[in-house]
Amino acid sequence: MGASWTPPRAPRGTADILPEQVHAWHRVERTAAELAERYGYRELRTPAFEALELFARGMGEGTEVVEKEMFLLAPSGRARVEAGPGEAPDAGPRAQAPAGGHGAGGAEPLALRPEFTAGVVRAYRQHGLDKTRGLLKVYSIGPLFRYERPQKGRQRQFHQVNLEALGTGDPRAELELIAFAQDLLGALGIPDFAVRLNSIGCAQCRPGYRERVRALLQPRRERLCANCRARLDRNAFRVLDCKLCAEHTADLPPMAEQLCAACAEHFAAVRAGLELLDVPYRIDARLVRGFDYYTRTVFEFPSGRLGAQDALGGGGRYDRLIPDMGGPELGACGLAFGIERLLLAMDPAATGSAAAEAAERARRAAAVYVAATPEPGPRAAALELVTELRRAGLEAEFDLAGKSLKAQLRAADKAGFGWVVIVGPEELARGEVALRQMAAGHQQRLPRAELLARLAPAVPLAARPAR
Ligand code: HAM
Repeated sequence: MGASWTPPRAPRGTADILPEQVHAWHRVERTAAELAERYGYRELRTPAFEALELFARGMGEGTEVVEKEMFLLAPSGRARVEAGPGEAPDAGPRAQAPAGGHGAGGAEPLALRPEFTAGVVRAYRQHGLDKTRGLLKVYSIGPLFRYERPQKGRQRQFHQVNLEALGTGDPRAELELIAFAQDLLGALGIPDFAVRLNSIGCAQCRPGYRERVRALLQPRRERLCANCRARLDRNAFRVLDCKLCAEHTADLPPMAEQLCAACAEHFAAVRAGLELLDVPYRIDARLVRGFDYYTRTVFEFPSGRLGAQDALGGGGRYDRLIPDMGGPELGACGLAFGIERLLLAMDPAATGSAAAEAAERARRAAAVYVAATPEPGPRAAALELVTELRRAGLEAEFDLAGKSLKAQLRAADKAGFGWVVIVGPEELARGEVALRQMAAGHQQRLPRAELLARLAPAVPLAARPAR
């Protein structure tokens, strides 16, 4: 044997989700999926990596995520990790792009997806759904990757529930999404639902506003943070979003007052719809969101239960993305919730280990433990029985750790199994088993052939195999 080797820990900003934590994840994922289906959204699964160019074009070259947070991929053999200055040992994510870049033997720079939207629009275009379907409502649930500085509610691998409605310019599409958000948070028991809402206009009305903001901020340039000084030249609009510079931008005119007639009408329809549905919302003139693709309506869902990263989710309309990806002039909108943040905002009683333990005990109460004495015959019989019970639709367990019969019985009792089947040499010779009903403390011998019929009432109907 070689020298002992300690494997590296999971990378910074990632987390293992252990079996006792998965219970809460299932609750969020299943609730979100069922609700999305009820709203007419169907699941779409796209790859976890795509061409880097897709994200650069989709989210915008100059956005924070594309500029600083992409995990680039290169095939092994050609990969060479470049650590940025002073970045060891937690080296940057940037592997050198395959030699030759575009067009070299089909090698194109690839990146792990930092969001779902760009990949969803790519799939919509690639499969011609813009032509055959027009409207497509899809949801996706899965991991995403951003090279951010990890903190509470911010990871490098995180997960989202994402919904997109492609091929519609109807303001009721945003309203449907916001109603979904309200229902999702309600179903997860997250209190104090509120929407932060803004309209950031379109290609007609935004450039004029951006120029105005730049002109107004130019004389205050030196008072802005370093980031915003750079943003002022590239996209003055983003300065509105900066918390550090809030006091210097407080008096700027809100975008929502500078909208063109069509955008103003759209925004009025969204607000009227929120009132119709009785959804609490607040106009936030500072809300611009971080990606270039947004047009008109943008929104976020804050929670007082989170720290500095207070957005449970966000989204908006992006009417230019389908045409910018070579498709027809069709509008679209979507939203995403961070699953880690939903879990942080949920009541610990619903997500903690006590809840997982209670759910586990409820399952075990209907489950069977097959205990056996240590001889080969009973051990083989236990394997056969446990398999038969499982195939009949019951949850069944047996010992794989070499425990004595006594220890097996103790373990079954401690875990809360509702039924224990015992096989020893004597039972085996007679073609029988002993069946103990744990709650009643009652034990009987019965022919092995009758076991399934005895246990069948414990099998939930849906789990019984169709015959
Ligand atoms: P986003 O605001 O970048 O939007 O992300 C949505 C949510 O994902 C955030 O509110 C947050 O809960 C979660 N999230 C983002 N980054 C992290 C992170 N590093 N760690 C933990 N959670 C995170 C989008 O991604 C858009 N694609 C949403 C959208 C869909 N817009 C239109 N369609």
